[in-house]
Amino acid sequence: YAITVDPKGSGAKIDDTMYGVFFEDINRAADGGLYAELVQNRSFEYSTADNRSYTPLTSWATTGTATAVDDDGRLNARNRTYLALDAGSSVTNSGYNTGIRVESGRTYDFSLWARADARTPLTVTLHDADGALAEARQVTARGGWAKYRARFTATRDSTTGRLTVATDAPVALDMISLIPRDTYKGDGLRKDLAEKIAALHPGFVRFPGGCLVNTGSMQGYDEASGYQRRRSYQWKDTIGPVEQRATNSNFWGYNQSYGLGYYEYFQFAEDIGAMPLPVVPALVTGCGQNKATDDDALLKRHIQDTLDLIEFANGPVTSEWGRKRAAMGHPKPFHLTHLEVGNEENLPDEFFARFKQFRAAVQAKYPNIEVISNAGPDDSGTTFDTAWKLNKEADVDMVDEHYYNSTQWFLQNNDRYDSYDRNGPKVFLGEYASGGNTFKNALAEAAYMTGLERNAGVVKLASYAPLLADEDYVQWRPDMIWFNNHASWGSADYEVQKLFMNNVGDRVVPSTATTTPSLSAPISGAVGLSTWATTAAYDDVTVTGADGTTLLGDDFSGDASRWTHTGGGSWSLQDGQYVQTDVGAENTMVSAGDPAWHDYDLRVKATKKAGK
Ligand code: AHR
Repeated sequence: YAITVDPKGSGAKIDDTMYGVFFEDINRAADGGLYAELVQNRSFEYSTADNRSYTPLTSWATTGTATAVDDDGRLNARNRTYLALDAGSSVTNSGYNTGIRVESGRTYDFSLWARADARTPLTVTLHDADGALAEARQVTARGGWAKYRARFTATRDSTTGRLTVATDAPVALDMISLIPRDTYKGDGLRKDLAEKIAALHPGFVRFPGGCLVNTGSMQGYDEASGYQRRRSYQWKDTIGPVEQRATNSNFWGYNQSYGLGYYEYFQFAEDIGAMPLPVVPALVTGCGQNKATDDDALLKRHIQDTLDLIEFANGPVTSEWGRKRAAMGHPKPFHLTHLEVGNEENLPDEFFARFKQFRAAVQAKYPNIEVISNAGPDDSGTTFDTAWKLNKEADVDMVDEHYYNSTQWFLQNNDRYDSYDRNGPKVFLGEYASGGNTFKNALAEAAYMTGLERNAGVVKLASYAPLLADEDYVQWRPDMIWFNNHASWGSADYEVQKLFMNNVGDRVVPSTATTTPSLSAPISGAVGLSTWATTAAYDDVTVTGADGTTLLGDDFSGDASRWTHTGGGSWSLQDGQYVQTDVGAENTMVSAGDPAWHDYDLRVKATKKAGK
């Protein structure tokens, strides 16, 4: 092959913001992850309405009489359940993973809210099975709800720590918290994880999701009945004092505290020198939930919330929302320039009807803010094509595309953007990954990224997804950075992202090749089925080699042992069909057990089961 490079030629400009990160609270990326809080379920708000395995006492052990109470004596309307402890009782938290991680010599800030009729000394201890991890502390509660603080310095290391609060008199407790004093830039985030993200030098941070943003109940906070479980991610729920932030049942099936909320996201983006890129719900529930709101008042309220978000980020301290930002500690603006409306919208027509209203309102008040649209859930098929057509007709600035495919797909589609319309909307590749975390995956992604960069005139932003995964709580893989309660490690894909982000070019140097190299050796049997939506079940699945050989018939019954499915979720054989019954599993099958199959260029065809 001959490659001709034109060093004097002037190709597309590559923006400094080209490569960024996409943070979503999936795989426990926030609580138990990037958010430094060590106590799990600190506000006793876990509920069976979030997850059938939860109770208000999840991750707490009690002695004596300890009752979770939801009555008028609560801390506030958003923090509804508290713990009533009788005299001689105690409550112990077990943190995340194997327990609370403490390191010898490090300091930890403890706080709780308490209400007590009489003067009530509370003894607080940090310990593990081998005994004390720090000197015990005492705080004395008295009167109505008030916050009490103490500080621990750990005397030895532990990854199995426990935090206990004991009382000699009746007391009500809430918001029991333990946070290392030493967080990333003092802004409340776990240091090793924040440092790994910062080391990427991302151009932007897209947050807070993903499917997390726009699914679930579309209702807002309801003062009278308490908040709605699993509502869409609404930024106003996530700011202000942490004890006044509601918790939520998130799309990924667990409780999110919102301790890591919009202020913290903006602050983190600023701390690492990245452009903040929030995503707001479009009131059309994407991610497989085909529902669009007809409630005009609700839509208008969300549009107003979006305008208020811009004011919160950029407004002067004299404005209503700028004042709230200043009260949280940041009088200067956060310099928001882009925001995205919606995520993976399955209903293009319904989405666009609403997207245009969001955009019109933003442009009327903030003409310099770029409003990003999306291209639906797939990189192929009717929804994707219709969405792109509508994006073009609506003269959208930028469209967010997502795809999770095989290594082979990434190698074979390096030219994807060569043919994209240079005069149409720009592309934000907001989520992509090949099917694993191996060197081979990273290599395929690196090769693909050269195609993104070559097309930097069209592809303006790109982020691998998901960013973080707790190794004990995996709902989706592959993931860029992995962690448990005491360690974190980057995948091979992380190294590729780091390489590209730390070496962003200024301009594409034009080059031509005599031919496109073909893949002489197929990259193994990893097969991406981008059409396998979560919770869907499929019929008529056939897997064939490039030469037409049928490797699997239209059911997996005889061959199940030959296949492994990576990722979380539940896969099971039901009536001779492979069925994915849980949300969040990834859509990748990898052949196992028969290396001969690795020599095939696998083709997979699957038909959705009726009604699924
Ligand atoms: O990155 C995980 C999920 O993949 C995101 O929530 C969603 O946008 C996509 O389907």
